[in-house]
Amino acid sequence: MLDVPTVRLRLADELDPVWRATAEALGADDVPIPFWAFAWAGGIAIARYLVEHPEAVAGRTVLDLATGSGLCAIAALRAGAVRATGADIDPFAEAAVALNARANAVRVGFVGRDLLDDEPPAADVILAGDTWYEGPLAERVLPWLAQAATHGTSVLVGDPGRRYLPAIGLVQLAAYDVHTTTQLEDRAVVAARVFTLSGVPSRSAR
Ligand SMILES: C[S@@+](CC[C@H](N)C(=O)[O-])C[C@H]1O[C@@H](n2cnc3c(N)ncnc32)[C@H](O)[C@@H]1O
Repeated sequence: MLDVPTVRLRLADELDPVWRATAEALGADDVPIPFWAFAWAGGIAIARYLVEHPEAVAGRTVLDLATGSGLCAIAALRAGAVRATGADIDPFAEAAVALNARANAVRVGFVGRDLLDDEPPAADVILAGDTWYEGPLAERVLPWLAQAATHGTSVLVGDPGRRYLPAIGLVQLAAYDVHTTTQLEDRAVVAARVFTLSGVPSRSAR
């Protein structure tokens, strides 16, 4: 059950069959989790925040970094964003985002290359839902978001307390108990928080 009243998503009930199918489709054994087939707790928290605070994105352009299913981009459009683009390096994410956008009668752009290698693109708001689950990604995301913030972009981060969530540089805006799935987490309801950035050195300043 997705407890975001404004968004409908086509999601998987079980992890293993989708994971096996993606491995078969790619002809490889070692493929990442099909992140795009689930709504992750950090993204759900951002989506819930946008239901309560549509002014955070209304009338603004949005980039949903690590979009997965497209959850945060769709939530932003449903809250009144003028344009939303999802970015994800998973080759299956684009199709998942398109499917879910259609289910919500919205249009979501998509970028499949790794934006963290470049300067952050122009956007009024960047959303980063559940991006602190692995060290190498976490190390790249925070300075990149900070660089975006120095260009005047608002940043919202959603996270359920993953291992690599930065201990400093984030200011909490809201907290939610979100329904997730025990296919992904060890319990069905997880405490997740929404943050913005505060005083993080940007990539260019390091
Ligand atoms: C835990 S999922 C979160 C998905 C979605 N934001 C949500 O909360 O439901 C993390 C996502 O990050 C994506 N990802 C990993 N590295 C990335 C990168 N360098 N750029 C963009 N997306 C990336 C993965 O493919 C995956 O879809």
